[in-house]
Amino acid sequence: MSDQRFPDWQELVLTVATADLDEVLGRLAQLGFEQTWVEQPLAHERGPDGWVTAPADADQSLVHVYTEPDDTDAAARLNAALGDRFGEVHSQVLATEDWLGQWRQGRRNIDLEAGWSLGPPWLADQAPDRARHIIIDPGLAFGAGDHMTTQDCCRLVIRLTRPGDRVLDLGAGSGVLAILALKLDASEAYAVELDRLAHGEILRNGALNESRNLHGVLGDARAADVQGPFDLILANIGAAELRAMAPAMAAWVAPRARLVLSGLVEWAADDVVAAYTAAGWHEIDRLTGAHEWVTVALEWPESE
Ligand SMILES: C[S@@+](CC[C@H](N)C(=O)[O-])C[C@H]1O[C@@H](n2cnc3c(N)ncnc32)[C@H](O)[C@@H]1O
Repeated sequence: MSDQRFPDWQELVLTVATADLDEVLGRLAQLGFEQTWVEQPLAHERGPDGWVTAPADADQSLVHVYTEPDDTDAAARLNAALGDRFGEVHSQVLATEDWLGQWRQGRRNIDLEAGWSLGPPWLADQAPDRARHIIIDPGLAFGAGDHMTTQDCCRLVIRLTRPGDRVLDLGAGSGVLAILALKLDASEAYAVELDRLAHGEILRNGALNESRNLHGVLGDARAADVQGPFDLILANIGAAELRAMAPAMAAWVAPRARLVLSGLVEWAADDVVAAYTAAGWHEIDRLTGAHEWVTVALEWPESE
């Protein structure tokens, strides 16, 4: 069914030698094909700290060309102009889709632990227990709940937050972990985020949850402008940054502070945890059910 807000379009795909890209794009423009997108197919490989993404074949690129769907001889014109040199042109008409509507329909409330859940604003009324539910608008920031590291961090936040805790959330994304901790009666939470768009989402999600004492801090977690001591520190950020932060983290901790580390792939986790145990932490919990992702909780001693 056609939806006029989202018109159909025709996509033609050419395989091109990367060295010829500039020439091809220039000739496409001469032929009147202005809407193009160059795709470099990617491959994902294991790196020491996680997944590394690199071009699958740097010599080949795909050029996507978009035209009106009724431009039925577009493929023939492209083939005539470029085909013998640049190979076969594949074309397809992409049907009208209300992508936004489909995307919204595909979302759901996510059960966490102990009756807690999280989900988008339009499903809040369907939460199993509204008092144990947080709203995260899936927008421009990581942390709407789809990723398993977010879910496992939430589970450990539910287990480890104590009323009155001061919370530091490093790499806060959507603010989901800080917002959850506040809902669990933390007294205040500092949500540190490098990305300006995500920083805005933290404040927006905080308002959706009527979070009090949520402080968004725009900046680098490795040199965060915050004042300890904190009782609960949350860092779903990635192995390399976590390893770098291990020595400095001690400056922020209260006695018996708890720390949640995530964004760790299983082949990097032990090494990162070792950096924290060397700094004085000891491991108290570990979640490993999220494919290759590991989430670890540690505790700081009562006193040094
Ligand atoms: C994996 S997401 C985690 C988001 C959220 N805390 C969660 O658990 O779903 C990591 C976030 O950290 C941010 N980030 C990465 N490096 C950072 C740094 N050095 N300082 C502050 N934020 C950082 C990214 O922009 C991203 O929003």
